[in-house]
Amino acid sequence: MCGIVGYVGEKQAVPILLESLKKLEYRGYDSSGVGVIALENGKVHLRKTQGKIQNLQDLIKSHSIPRSSIGICHTRWATHGVPNRVNAHPHTDCTGKILIVHNGIIENYAELKAALQKRNHKFTSDTDTEVIAHLIEESYDTNLELAVQKAIAQLKGTFALGVICADYPDTIIAARVGSPLIIGLGHKENFIASDVPAILEATKKIIYLKDGQMARLTKEAVKVFTFAGEKVSPKVNTITFSVEAVQKQGYAHFMLKEIHEQPDVIEQMCQSRLKDGHVHLDGIRLKDKQLKAVSQIVIVACGTAYHAGLVGKYCIEHLSGIRVSVDVSSEFRYRDPIVDKRTLVVAISQSGETADTLAAVREAKSKGAKVIAICNVVGSSLVRESDGVLYTHAGPEIGVASTKAYTAQLGMLYLLALKLSALKDKVSSRERQDIIQDFRRIPRLFEMILKAKKTIAVIAKKNSHFGCFLFLGRNINYPSALEGALKLKEISYIPAEGYAAGEMKHGPIALIDEYRAVVCITPQSETYDKMISNMQEIRARKGKIIAIATEGNEAIKQHAHHVVYVPQTNNILTPLLVALPLQLIAYYIAVHRGCDVDQPRNLAKSVTVE
Ligand code: AGP
Repeated sequence: MCGIVGYVGEKQAVPILLESLKKLEYRGYDSSGVGVIALENGKVHLRKTQGKIQNLQDLIKSHSIPRSSIGICHTRWATHGVPNRVNAHPHTDCTGKILIVHNGIIENYAELKAALQKRNHKFTSDTDTEVIAHLIEESYDTNLELAVQKAIAQLKGTFALGVICADYPDTIIAARVGSPLIIGLGHKENFIASDVPAILEATKKIIYLKDGQMARLTKEAVKVFTFAGEKVSPKVNTITFSVEAVQKQGYAHFMLKEIHEQPDVIEQMCQSRLKDGHVHLDGIRLKDKQLKAVSQIVIVACGTAYHAGLVGKYCIEHLSGIRVSVDVSSEFRYRDPIVDKRTLVVAISQSGETADTLAAVREAKSKGAKVIAICNVVGSSLVRESDGVLYTHAGPEIGVASTKAYTAQLGMLYLLALKLSALKDKVSSRERQDIIQDFRRIPRLFEMILKAKKTIAVIAKKNSHFGCFLFLGRNINYPSALEGALKLKEISYIPAEGYAAGEMKHGPIALIDEYRAVVCITPQSETYDKMISNMQEIRARKGKIIAIATEGNEAIKQHAHHVVYVPQTNNILTPLLVALPLQLIAYYIAVHRGCDVDQPRNLAKSVTVE
């Protein structure tokens, strides 16, 4: 979704702004713009363009922008109005003195716009954002801060805002409701940004602005206050991850780098969470007694995190006997869910800023449920709104297609299931210990799969011409099939469907002919023979089969056209292992088709609007 950066300091603002903005490219965008107040004459200057930030840099080369030490810039992911230069941010008021950048959606923009037009305000764009600039203009006398306060009091919806005004050439005003915004503290310079990577090279001292808070930044000072004007003493956080963590470090794409980071992520999880054969879930903030009293678990999440949640259902129910339902957050929030004080809601989100998951959490809390977050981003909105948190600590995930965050979510769900299992005694402690032992081996098994990636690349290339893919799995690998299909469609744009293999005869088999490829997830398990039957039915109809099978299974070669092997492990843990070949198949197909793997079209890394 949209990305915001603002700078006030002593250096040249534009190069800093553009370099920082590039670090937010992963969020997904279709146009960009920058606005500054010129040092020489205090006038506002704007440059905006459609497409990549490179286009904006080219524009600035051909139409130079005056020297300045204050500015705001933006990458836009279109919601209201097509992606073009006019709709790109920053937007201005009628006087052209006030500039604003915005992330979020103003839900009452149509009525506000109609009223402003009646009062003779002239609009130049189709965006919801532009109303904010005109509202500030109306309330502006000499106090910019107050004018922003009065303007945002009229807004319904979500926003992170950065505002500058020609009359205040040393000040940025920032405000937030429902969309992420951070403040970076530097030496004689300060920043606003949508996310940490944007400003990590300049500072590791960060304030996470909270909903209902505003800030005034000059190069010397940052003041945080509520919308009612009350002063706030914000917590200053020190970012622990390094600049390298947000660089490609020699890999062709962030996605490939992040696929390779998965052994380390699970290794670290083992080291920090498994001690003396027991699972330690520090951060959950629920006593064993409370966990024992839980009558049902509801998992809410979107996209890949939802697929992790589905795996979670299989393992929590099997290991603990607690009933689990899994909801797509956007459905949960509107369906009057049955949730009460004995319900534990587990909200899964890499970013912790997904609007629907946040709304689902609010809905659950209003019904008395306890909420724990499984989240990757420290200090995110989800973490702040939940009763407890299980951090996945996978490190920053830049590729839009989630990889290491997914396997980290799976890892954390296994640990949660094991913890609940120990409290409920549904399975023997021997079975739990066996799973723990096998879980500890996962990083090594991941390494083995990654070593064979060339074979996967060859298979992917051979099948990259297919115009349609099916992914089939059963039982705990049914969610793996959904995730494999999502990965492929989001980065290669090939239509792909994930199905429970048992559903084949109920519809999808109609698709099978020599033009379809089917990825069959077939590790050794109690449903293995059923998967073989599915494969025979596909072969009989000339479909191409790529099987993901357990190392040593030679027999499967007679049923599949290609086989990718994963090492043997406990069946319950196989979704972890099969995730890697599925990610790599999608990755190599997308690369072969020349797709923009890290920034696929139309997608945003964190979906901060509904
Ligand atoms: C994953 O590859 C997707 N880009 C997407 O489905 C993502 O998982 C979803 O938007 C949820 O994001 P979150 O984990 O940050 O809440």
